[in-house]
Amino acid sequence: MTGAHRLEGQVAVVTGGANGIGRATALKFASEGAAVVVADVQMAPAESVVDEIIAAGGRALAVELDARSRESNEQMAEAAVQTFGGLDVMMTAAGISHGGYSSGDIEAEVKRATRRLEVAAEPGQGFLDVELEDWQRVIDVNLTGTFLAMQAAVRQMLELGTKGRIVTIASIAAKNPDAGPTAYTVSKAGVWMLTKKSARELASAGIRVNAIGPGYIRTNMTALIEQIPEYNERLMAAIPLGHVGEPDDIAHAAMYLVTDESGYMTGEILHPAGGYFTG
Ligand SMILES: NC(=O)c1ccc[n+]([C@@H]2O[C@H](COP(=O)([O-])OP(=O)(O)OC[C@H]3O[C@@H](n4cnc5c(N)ncnc54)[C@H](O)[C@@H]3O)[C@@H](O)[C@H]2O)c1
Repeated sequence: MTGAHRLEGQVAVVTGGANGIGRATALKFASEGAAVVVADVQMAPAESVVDEIIAAGGRALAVELDARSRESNEQMAEAAVQTFGGLDVMMTAAGISHGGYSSGDIEAEVKRATRRLEVAAEPGQGFLDVELEDWQRVIDVNLTGTFLAMQAAVRQMLELGTKGRIVTIASIAAKNPDAGPTAYTVSKAGVWMLTKKSARELASAGIRVNAIGPGYIRTNMTALIEQIPEYNERLMAAIPLGHVGEPDDIAHAAMYLVTDESGYMTGEILHPAGGYFTG
């Protein structure tokens, strides 16, 4: 694999590693020498990320994960240790923007977003339109899923005496309520607080925890924006750098957070966001 091999001999797990930000980060970690567990609910794209890593001379394993399940998260962390002999880095990129989200189903996304624009035009209806089931699923995947992956990783790190590094994926929506739907923004604010809280609790174990709060990044999750002019115009006006980011922009931030270059940093959030306002 090409790269500076800054993660040689280390083992990384990436949840949501089949697509978008998780995929780019899994490829980046592998190019830096890490053995990578690509964990996702979508197995076909997860397998193709693994194939890509192996074809380039790296080591990788695809693991089926339902981020909402404690058992599934524990199995994922155990698989890393059993297959590659350790667990040094956990990156939690599995996420959904709303309860019905399925990565890659762009047609359904455009349909939903168009309806949401109509509903939100009626006073108060945007808020009332949030269904309990939708709310619960977003919190379960984004917030509880992050918590469960972190716990599973920390269990292994403590057992092995590893000075681990955890990178959570929050969002600019953790701080800016205009950057996503209701349950999504709340779940990401929760991920940000979970990052700060766990960083304090894990510092004495030598485990660092930091978050990345991406702005708008070109992935399946944001593909609908280009298709709806009203969204696109609003978005471009809000990004001082004038363009959306690429998944590699987040992979590079993740690399920084898992190497010693960020060794004095824990409980922080980085915002690769083109200057989008995060307060
Ligand atoms: N794209 C952006 O602009 C942006 C901005 C801020 C934050 N984020 C966050 O980045 C993360 C990655 O999103 P992305 O943009 O790459 O989108 P994506 O759809 O490309 O990737 C999300 C991945 O999570 C997986 N996933 C969803 N539910 C899962 C579950 N229950 N169990 C396991 N895996 C599951 C999907 O299959 C997919 O591979 C998400 O947490 C998202 O909220 C994205």
